[in-house]
Amino acid sequence: MQILRTKASSPDDFQDTGLRRCLSAADLTLLGIGAIIGTGIFVLTGIAAATQAGPAVVLSFVFAGLACAFAALSYAELAASVGGCGSAYGYSYAAFGELVAWIIGWDLILEYSISVAAVANGWSGYFSNALTAIGLPLPVSLTRAPSLGGYVNLPASAIVLMLMVLLIVGVKQSARLNTVMVTIKVLTITVFVSLAAFNVDPANWTPFLPYGWFEHNPAGKPVGVLAAASLVFFAYVGFDAVSTAAEEAHNPRRDLPIGIIASLGFCTLVYIIVSGLLTGLVPYTELNVSSPVAHALHLLGFNWASALVATGVIAGLTTVMLVLYYALTRIIFAMSRDGLLSPAFSAVHERTQTPVRVIVLCGLAIATVSGFIPLGELAELVNIGTLFAFVLVCLGVMVMRHRQPALHRPFRTPANPVFPVLGALSCSALMAFLPATTWYRFLIWLALGLLVYFAYSIHHSRLAQKAN
Ligand code: ALA
Repeated sequence: MQILRTKASSPDDFQDTGLRRCLSAADLTLLGIGAIIGTGIFVLTGIAAATQAGPAVVLSFVFAGLACAFAALSYAELAASVGGCGSAYGYSYAAFGELVAWIIGWDLILEYSISVAAVANGWSGYFSNALTAIGLPLPVSLTRAPSLGGYVNLPASAIVLMLMVLLIVGVKQSARLNTVMVTIKVLTITVFVSLAAFNVDPANWTPFLPYGWFEHNPAGKPVGVLAAASLVFFAYVGFDAVSTAAEEAHNPRRDLPIGIIASLGFCTLVYIIVSGLLTGLVPYTELNVSSPVAHALHLLGFNWASALVATGVIAGLTTVMLVLYYALTRIIFAMSRDGLLSPAFSAVHERTQTPVRVIVLCGLAIATVSGFIPLGELAELVNIGTLFAFVLVCLGVMVMRHRQPALHRPFRTPANPVFPVLGALSCSALMAFLPATTWYRFLIWLALGLLVYFAYSIHHSRLAQKAN
């Protein structure tokens, strides 16, 4: 059946494809950290602690981190053996066939584009505050979408367009800026941890579990450690983006597993330390603010550190947008090369060796959305899409081991099938803890995707052309 046709993975998938191979294992790890540490730890930790988990939010980070660790091992295996810049989309094409690959590719487009637009909204808030602090405030009408009483969220659109230019110029240049920004955000976190470690009041950790493990609040919304885990999961989104650099890495078979596992491991440790300290600094009830980390330092009287954290957040959110935007373009590039999207998107510019058309198209679309629609609330929609991809990647490891046992696997997920099964189960559980509205939005997006597939992609697929 056409919809089940699979794309065989072959050593060709590791040949040059027109994109420039210039990223080392260190670059990939830094790209991962760039994509991972952002809104999740700097913003959502406070909301999750104050409204869903209390000081036990640290456990939410542990649970979400464990689910991601299982998924990351599966990503590492498939990135090193199946290859290609399509990430979960490409692995699904090899393991489950075209329809599932299409669904996951469509899902990743949602994940990455909404993440970039949502983070651009958060970035704009911090940037506008920083301008106000130095006496150069922007008119309110230029910092808000029309539905919030403004004309346009100009900083949100402008940062996306600037990143667009950077990504066009080249992936190496983008990786360099990423390194500088990641250094700033990690330094900021180090300052926070050093100050916080000496100012914790253990009384703030009691009661530790004010919302229990999994309950519903009077408004019917899930609360508790597990519900918070499915919210703070957003903090981990991004390590998967490393796998989209497969065609630009010097040695993808060795370096992708390093980049994925090292970046996730580092960030998990950071999250557990930061969330533990944050809830020890001030009562969790005080943390439902837009910048809980800076707010906690401010309450303790460290105003300079609070300003420093704001700078770190601006740098941090910039790299999150940069890497997720990069990943979005590589997924669309891969889908277009396979014929499932218009071939116009897989053209690579000769000089810059970047897929300029798709970068421009995505940049204009996201800049428009983030300038005119306030998307700050959509973290949960990103989470459901990402978790869905993770479940399929975990299942994909088992299917590929069965279907292609002889495939060269430089990295093997340990304890197969136990770890992939645990990954699929824990990610499915996190999906189940998400609110019903998130599920409806997600299903509507997938239904739209099926329409596009049956109207266009099924007929234009390269595999369909080959069969004729
Ligand atoms: N993990 C990224 C963040 O927290 C998406 O902003």
